[in-house]
Amino acid sequence: MKFFQSVEGVQKISFGEMIPTDTILEEMFKETESFYIPGIIDKRTSHHIWKLNLNEGDVVYGLGQSIRGMNKRGFVYESFCTDDPNHTPDKKSLYGAHNFFVVLSDNPWGIYIDFAGKVTFDVGFEHQDILLIDVEGVDFDAYIFNGTYKEIIGRFRSLIGQSYVPPKWGFGYQQSRWSYVDKNEVLSIAEKFDEHDLPCDAIYLDIDYMERFKDFTVSDDRFSDFKTFVSDLKLKDIKLIPIIDAGVKIESGYDVYEEGVKNSYFCKDENGKPFVAAVWPGKVHFPDFLNSRVREWFGQKYHRLMDMGIEGFWNDMNEPAIFYSEQGLKDAISFVSDQEGKNLDIYTFFDLKNKIMNISNSESDYKSMYHNYDGMKVNHYDVHNLYGYFMTRAAAEGFKSYAPEKRHLMITRASHIGMAKHSGIWTGDNHSWWEHLKLNIQMMPSLGMAGFLYSGADTGGFGGEASGELLTRWLQFSIFTPLLRNHSAMGTRKQEPWMFETETLDRIRDVIKMRYALVPYLYSEFMKANFNHELLFAPLSYEYDDSRSKRVEDQLLLGDSLMLAPVYEQNSRGRSVYLPEKMVLWKATAYEHLNENQFELLERGYHFVDVALNEIPIYLKPGKLVVMTKPENRISTLDESNLVVLGFVPDHASYILYNDDGLTKGYESGDSLQTIFKVDRINNKYHISVDTNDLALKTITFYLIDDSGNWHVIKQNTFINDRRYV
Ligand code: GLC
Repeated sequence: MKFFQSVEGVQKISFGEMIPTDTILEEMFKETESFYIPGIIDKRTSHHIWKLNLNEGDVVYGLGQSIRGMNKRGFVYESFCTDDPNHTPDKKSLYGAHNFFVVLSDNPWGIYIDFAGKVTFDVGFEHQDILLIDVEGVDFDAYIFNGTYKEIIGRFRSLIGQSYVPPKWGFGYQQSRWSYVDKNEVLSIAEKFDEHDLPCDAIYLDIDYMERFKDFTVSDDRFSDFKTFVSDLKLKDIKLIPIIDAGVKIESGYDVYEEGVKNSYFCKDENGKPFVAAVWPGKVHFPDFLNSRVREWFGQKYHRLMDMGIEGFWNDMNEPAIFYSEQGLKDAISFVSDQEGKNLDIYTFFDLKNKIMNISNSESDYKSMYHNYDGMKVNHYDVHNLYGYFMTRAAAEGFKSYAPEKRHLMITRASHIGMAKHSGIWTGDNHSWWEHLKLNIQMMPSLGMAGFLYSGADTGGFGGEASGELLTRWLQFSIFTPLLRNHSAMGTRKQEPWMFETETLDRIRDVIKMRYALVPYLYSEFMKANFNHELLFAPLSYEYDDSRSKRVEDQLLLGDSLMLAPVYEQNSRGRSVYLPEKMVLWKATAYEHLNENQFELLERGYHFVDVALNEIPIYLKPGKLVVMTKPENRISTLDESNLVVLGFVPDHASYILYNDDGLTKGYESGDSLQTIFKVDRINNKYHISVDTNDLALKTITFYLIDDSGNWHVIKQNTFINDRRYV
């Protein structure tokens, strides 16, 4: 099934018979623009394999949500949306299928494989200089891109379109945990945030809010008078974000189930009966989201909760996750009972163990499920990676029909290229492991390459036990990710900030407040990255072409003005950092302590930088500016008419600050605010100009660091008409 039917402005080349792919690629690389290659059909096998050469120095970036480092070279990855809560380094797939990567070589190139089934990428694993792409099917398209790394990403992202934009409150801190069992618990969580003077904009409702885990129901006992509950929290300016799972509980009298059966809206088994699997609610059917009528039906169901004041959702278990299928369970039980009383040889014992261990998310289950893709019978396995995408599209279309001009918060677990226009993603069930903080850091650029700008991990880790130190260090990174959510699993150590000792709580408060202070910059960079098809988080080689930058795996560029080198190791109080040019290190602590002692000029090259537990290390690029405001405990109360502009300005710097109403889709038609800052240092004096269409802007305080590391504070609150000069 092809995802893109045609793409305007992209050259199209047709191939009738299969052509050795090396030849095709050679042809492609002679050109400078992007190309569209229609499905290349190998009539002899059911796989299509491409073998490509890598040069010694080539770096491979991309493949979206996948494990291991930024440079994908040295391992095998599979595109097959998988619900696996153990993101260990041996895992080939996670929840997303993002078949796009870029090879950074002397002549950089990129490729997108438009295919909804399984694709395997052996990136220099079997042979370190060979990149193998194995597409498990023959009906697919490949797009090849040339240009610089930045250009290739720009071309790909313009092909897949603009990314999802959340309401601005979605940039606030969000608290979640699987096991907030009733509304009193949720209310007390909300109160604790205020009590401890901690910012928070949203609280998530996990499956506990539902009646027996049935989608679009709310437990009468535990969440009675839900509408009032939602509005009580709104009075505190906190939004509730309920979860919706893919599986619909089989229960007679449950309207979603009854309607689905009556209208034949569920995926089918081989005999044409609704496919039965088991997930949280016990036995479920899966809505056939590949069918447009089903999408419309399911999308409208979200309105029920929206009628009660809900403004955001998270879609889950939509790979779709299958704990077991009826058939799978039957087979496993029969195999196990056949062995009863026997003296098992080791091979049979392993078989027995595997039968049980592999009962979930099994390929044979996916192969026995069918879709009605608007009239065409399609085996699920062949289009597996589209399921979560279409569920989320159903939700997004449901939101649109409810309130077309309003932005809704939407994150989802399973994803596919193209879904980024409908939703953000979280990176699934990670663990409270330092390795997963590092994975989070390394995954951000490739998620952005795939268009998922609104993304983030379960901060502090979902499974396992978080220490105060881990949560602090993780937050010191997550405050930069657009989605900032602390989420954890039932039964694990609670990880709301006040669950830790006072010192940790105090540090965390300062860290989260720093996020709110940085929102003007973060939101501006997020929106510009979207409009301009750029990365928000990028490896150093996105901007710097020296050979060392290519090798840096644990530092990131964040927007135009900042570089990050987070601390991600237990007990570490510092780390090595590579600076591709001279920068100013800002060891940020509490916003109100912003002063010259926090800034240090560092030359190009390698440094060991001490970073105390209460310090967020941020690097200011020369000639760039960061715009902030005084932090508040809600996004809506941030005062963006009184700004602080910070920068390392050796001779000149400029910055365009983007802003908008944060709630509507007016930005799509250019409804926005722009403030252009220009700073010049002439004869040891700074000359500043500010040009804006933001009539609410009142004061701007500049903190500027010059080439000798001296700090200058310039405050201005006099403006002339609507062109303002400082
Ligand atoms: C899945 C989700 C997780 C959620 C849990 C219970 O594991 O990934 O975020 O808390 O289901 O709904």
